[in-house]
Amino acid sequence: MSDLEGRCRRLLGELGLASPHERLSVEPLSGGVASDIALVRIADRKVCVKFALAKLKTAADWFAPIHRNAAEYAWLHRAAQIAPENAIEVYGRSESSHGFAMEFLQGDDIYLWKAALLSEAPDRGEAARVGALLGRIHAASVEPDFDRTPFDNRSDFHALRLEPYLIHTARSHGDLRIHFDRLVDDLHIADRVLVHGDASPKNILLRGQAPILLDAECATMGDASFDPAFCLNHIVLKAIHLPDARTRYLQNAQGLWQAYARWIVWESKDEVEARICRLLPALMLARIDGKSPVEYLDGLERKRVRDIACSLIKAPMPSVAQTLAEIAASC
Ligand SMILES: Nc1ncnc2c1ncn2[C@@H]1O[C@H](COP(=O)(O)OP(=O)(O)O)[C@@H](O)[C@H]1O
Ligand SMILES: [Mg+2]
Repeated sequence: MSDLEGRCRRLLGELGLASPHERLSVEPLSGGVASDIALVRIADRKVCVKFALAKLKTAADWFAPIHRNAAEYAWLHRAAQIAPENAIEVYGRSESSHGFAMEFLQGDDIYLWKAALLSEAPDRGEAARVGALLGRIHAASVEPDFDRTPFDNRSDFHALRLEPYLIHTARSHGDLRIHFDRLVDDLHIADRVLVHGDASPKNILLRGQAPILLDAECATMGDASFDPAFCLNHIVLKAIHLPDARTRYLQNAQGLWQAYARWIVWESKDEVEARICRLLPALMLARIDGKSPVEYLDGLERKRVRDIACSLIKAPMPSVAQTLAEIAASC
């Protein structure tokens, strides 16, 4: 029996989802770097099982506490209450094995947004729906009865997002140090809304028209700008990479921001927008010179991203629309 199979067996037994001698087949799922994740077949039932890894599968050494799996489970649970039509069903979590089980999403109407973007599939309004979902969750998390307790995860957010993306990147860009330091300090102390922390198209499955956001292990109370900026970054990098889709993807990026902005009730829209305009170029540079470099850009494209990101970090635009226009003009 493989190690993963043994862990799946113990977890599913502990959760009462499989009996000790039941036949299981375990098929590892690819795509992630931070976890062991598998499709488990138990008789005619399919379950998705996920365990956090202590050392991530990245070229540079990157360690992260495995209790982050609790934050992920809590986020999935809470998001399902806030936006049931965008929910994945969760079946239970084991504290001792740092793993949990959830519904396995499968079917003709299910697709991964990243794959659709990279194959330049026809637009199905994904970006605006993702923006609205992020905004809806942020807005729900500022309600007075929202329980913030499971999301007091500032130190995990630091280990998983601030260090590998921003702090690591700043080390090779001394001239930008002051900008990165300010971003890191501001993001570290912020705690206003429930941040997902990894709103990337590779973590977003579409079920029909409904985006389902997975992989919430960076979830924390934090700064509202982080999720929209993080997701915009992924769209922008694909726009730079794919000239035929560029105009459409940059319009989609603007659509994501506008759909998100309609939900902002906890502060002024302009304040969030200004922070996005500072953070987005820093995240762009982080995908070039940080610990998690983007895999699909060639040397010329990487240079283009680096140049425009450095210039926007030093002189941010006042609006998302102007930031996107600058990016378009630089290609
Ligand atoms: N419940 C699920 N049903 C079907 N596929 C899933 C499910 N959860 C994750 N996946 C697939 O597995 C990939 C990796 O899962 P993810 O939670 O993002 O792990 P990691 O933390 O390693 O990135 C996702 O990109 C998605 O394609
Ligand atoms: Mg993932």
